[in-house]
Amino acid sequence: MRRNKITCLILVLFGLTIIFATDVFSEGTGKDCLKCHNDVWDESMNKSFIHVPFMDKKCRECHDQDAASDKNGANSADRTADVNWLSRHFTEDPSHWFVFAAPGGENTIVVEASAMGRKKLVTELTLPPLVELAESPENSQDAPIISNVRVLEVNRGIFFSATIGWETDKLATSQVIYGLERPTISSPMDGQATTNHTVILTTGIKSERTYEFRVVSEDLNGHRSESDKYILSTDKLFSLNPASVQNERSNGVIDLQPKFYRTGDKYTINLIASRPVTMALGMKKQNNPQGRQNDDLKGENHIKTNEQIVTNITTCYTCHRNYKEMVTHPVNVYPKRGMVIPPEYPTLPDGRITCLSCHAEHASNMEYMMLKPHKKELCIGCHADML
Ligand code: HEC
Ligand code: HEC
Ligand code: HEC
Ligand code: HEC
Ligand code: HEC
Repeated sequence: MRRNKITCLILVLFGLTIIFATDVFSEGTGKDCLKCHNDVWDESMNKSFIHVPFMDKKCRECHDQDAASDKNGANSADRTADVNWLSRHFTEDPSHWFVFAAPGGENTIVVEASAMGRKKLVTELTLPPLVELAESPENSQDAPIISNVRVLEVNRGIFFSATIGWETDKLATSQVIYGLERPTISSPMDGQATTNHTVILTTGIKSERTYEFRVVSEDLNGHRSESDKYILSTDKLFSLNPASVQNERSNGVIDLQPKFYRTGDKYTINLIASRPVTMALGMKKQNNPQGRQNDDLKGENHIKTNEQIVTNITTCYTCHRNYKEMVTHPVNVYPKRGMVIPPEYPTLPDGRITCLSCHAEHASNMEYMMLKPHKKELCIGCHADML
């Protein structure tokens, strides 16, 4: 009698263990992560504001290099562990231009293209010898011609802001110089070359003021043009910004056509994708095939974790797409000269600001998962001059 009961109990327990074990090892969820990273879970679940994807155990959405890749990028993890990324473009566009040097005769570049942060293509391209290439068609000696400068939007989001738009006759960078009395404030330079420019201004923009501004564009060879002076009035809010209505996007796989040119002793490459993508360009590291440290601790089956700039900025945009179009604090920018970022605000190792410079990734006791209890306190930590 008694023995039967015990056998029964043991059988039930055994059954439960099997169910539990299959659950733990099930593919595709974050439950398998918690087996080893329970500390991260426990620490975060005690907090008052928990990030929804963390609570849903969508750990892979942010951490797994392979989670974002479709068939196209099935091997992307293996290919990106030893890449030295040179440049990243954050605005989706079918066509991207990069100018870069290939030191020491290295001839393999790596291109990563992502559509809406999800569909990803990682591919390697072999550089043809520089001497065989034609001069870049973008290589004329003329500075860009600026036209159609206009104020597209005056808006109140997280910050009061104004959006300036203009066109150039050739590919060029975007920057606006502006001010109340004289143009003295510069927006961060947007280096992604385009002919259709938009720049959002937030620094020093207040309601019911009149500003003067000039726009500046520099082509791929550094020829620079500055526009005449224009007037920006923030008396009332309005929007002519086509970007905020346009939402239609093509589907399907990403396909890339590269075109190589030469600009002096540098390569110029134009990559044309079959749909609008963000893009990063890098070179294979020669002697350091190891990714991050600590990798041996993790064993062979650990997911390939994303590089830091991807977890700290790129993945955030996959779910917070609208946030990108809203007026937000700049990310991927360096501190101005003289600006000191206190150590409690995480940045990339080279000092660039990311989403995580202001927000916790998993959970926080502060509203909006902020790093400080109040917005003002958050800002003046870095902008002592806002006091
Ligand atoms: C078998 C145990 C184990 C499992 C399962 C596991 N990890 Fe890890 N993980 C480790 C160890 C060990 C380290 C290295 C020590 C550290 O940094 O904490 C690590 C490090 C990390 C890091 C930080 C270092 C880096 O490479 O960025 C992240 C992020 C991470 N794991 C995420 C995950 C996710 C997401 C999952 C689930 C898909 C997972 N881990 C599953 C053991 C594990
Ligand atoms: C919204 C995206 C996101 C989700 C979802 C997410 N993480 Fe993270 N996690 C991050 C970011 C960002 C970092 C900071 C790492 C960095 O700077 O590279 C981080 C850091 C980590 C680290 C290393 C640092 C530490 O605190 O020890 C581990 C381990 C980790 N996460 C595990 C997990 C696990 C387990 C889950 C699922 C329960 C998860 N993460 C869900 C974004 C996320
Ligand atoms: C897998 C999807 C996903 C990813 C990736 C993601 N988030 Fe979120 N996030 C959400 C959801 C869902 C919410 C809650 C609903 C909402 O407010 O949109 C949220 C809310 C937030 C909030 C507001 C929290 C609050 O209390 O109102 C912040 C801030 C935030 N996320 C920052 C980030 C940052 C920074 C990253 C990149 C490290 C990131 N998110 C990546 C899905 C995601
Ligand atoms: C300089 C600090 C700072 C940086 C950098 C920053 N944020 Fe925020 N974010 C804030 C503040 C402050 C709020 C609170 C909103 C408010 O007070 O108007 C906020 C709010 C949010 C919200 C909730 C807003 C809403 O209306 O639902 C999301 C989502 C968010 N941030 C995502 C991000 C993402 C993604 C990034 C990186 C691209 C980022 N943040 C970078 C300061 C920052
Ligand atoms: C982690 C440090 C940090 C925090 C916190 C921070 N900023 Fe910044 N902020 C920067 C850096 C770095 C820049 C880029 C350099 C520059 O243009 O001043 C910048 C730029 C700006 C700009 C200029 C944007 C432009 O387009 O020219 C404004 C406005 C601004 N921050 C406002 C704020 C506000 C408001 C807060 C609080 C919600 C805040 N910042 C919090 C570091 C920070």
